[in-house]
Amino acid sequence: MLNFRKLIHMKKTIALLAGVALAVNSLWAQHYVPTPENIQSRQEFSNSRFGIFLHWGIYSTFAQGEWFMTNANINAKEYAKAANAFYPHDFDANEWVSAIKASGAKYICFTTRHHDGFSMWNTKQSDYNIMNTPYGKDIVGQLADACHRQNINLHLYYSHIDWTREDYPAGVTGRHTKRLDKADWPSYYAFMNRQLEELLTNYGKIGAIWFDGWWDHGKDSIPFDWQLDEQYRLIHRLQPACLIGNNHHVTPYEGEDIQIFERDVPGENKAGLSGQDVGTLPLETCQTMNGMWGYKIVDQNYKSAAELIRLLARTAGKGANLLLNVGPQPDGNLPQTALERLAEMGEWMKKYGESIYGTVGGDYTLGEDIVTTRKGKTLYLHILNPKIRTIDMPMAYGVKEVTPLNGDESPLYKCVRGRLQFEVNVPDDSADYVIAIKMKKAPF
Ligand code: GLC
Repeated sequence: MLNFRKLIHMKKTIALLAGVALAVNSLWAQHYVPTPENIQSRQEFSNSRFGIFLHWGIYSTFAQGEWFMTNANINAKEYAKAANAFYPHDFDANEWVSAIKASGAKYICFTTRHHDGFSMWNTKQSDYNIMNTPYGKDIVGQLADACHRQNINLHLYYSHIDWTREDYPAGVTGRHTKRLDKADWPSYYAFMNRQLEELLTNYGKIGAIWFDGWWDHGKDSIPFDWQLDEQYRLIHRLQPACLIGNNHHVTPYEGEDIQIFERDVPGENKAGLSGQDVGTLPLETCQTMNGMWGYKIVDQNYKSAAELIRLLARTAGKGANLLLNVGPQPDGNLPQTALERLAEMGEWMKKYGESIYGTVGGDYTLGEDIVTTRKGKTLYLHILNPKIRTIDMPMAYGVKEVTPLNGDESPLYKCVRGRLQFEVNVPDDSADYVIAIKMKKAPF
């Protein structure tokens, strides 16, 4: 028979063990472990290296970029009249997807709902959506169908900010667009999660959810709990392979699958938005083709095809993807210059794509003049400045072959005291002169 003391002792032990189990359990519950299908999509994502961002919403009707509403302090009810004028009669999802595919891009990231709060799909969570415009057809639905049909991944941009909804507690932006005294975070949070649930259930496979707006209550303002944990869990429960990225400009949070850098290749911070450390998750740099994300009529300052190709190479050289933006017009067309750039990049990718797709960043760089990428034992030297005449770079492994990818004759090279040296003759109009260096061993 158990005596009373022993019984008490046992009870205490059981309580202690239960406590430990609970603590371990909650620790596990907190810790995000990506599923095998998620790991696989991360790999596919990294291999793809190039995607196209599309910023499209009713803001395109004003042709002033996607920040017009808050920049001009427009009252949300006045702004909403644009919905009644949105009629993109030329929109053809298949044409867009074909033009984008032809650029060599492997995925499309589309703005389902930007900071103005207008939803580009048939959402049941708010009337402020594409179905209530003269156009009246689901844009996200058409794009999703076209992407699935043409076998290109679809990523969805989703804004955490809302300059129209009164339940969103305004941060540093959108302070003059709506009433501020009706903020109701639980209501807004539930709304966002119901919308995300729609996006992740009604449109087939979604490659990624791309969040934006965290910085509205970011590191410099009063602490704010975005409850990302629970939202991320919802997304991974609905589609475990779906990647989560958040353009918060800080190091990634638990539950995120990719790290985003806005307007800068990882590790550089020229635009001042991307000072965060470069982590171990797959990386993505987003950049505009001209100056603004959403269509802006005066913004004709397009980067040249050569500049864009160099940007892609420099991004790949850092082991990151480039998500390059196009801002479609209100009539449903992609701007003509953007179409030309897509075609030019596609031509280049057809010839030199092997030095970009499926590569990792190479160790050797020479400022912005030379970057390297690597696939197995092949190191790709990208000469981004046509004025370069001599290559003299560290080489820890034996070299078997040095071959320019454009078909030029192989240069005579020598390996001297751990350095590889040869002369090059780069054409003046070259965007990126790629040389494949076959090594006897791979670094890892
Ligand atoms: C910024 C802007 C936003 C744009 C995004 C794309 O966060 O607020 O308008 O969508 O960058 O990177």
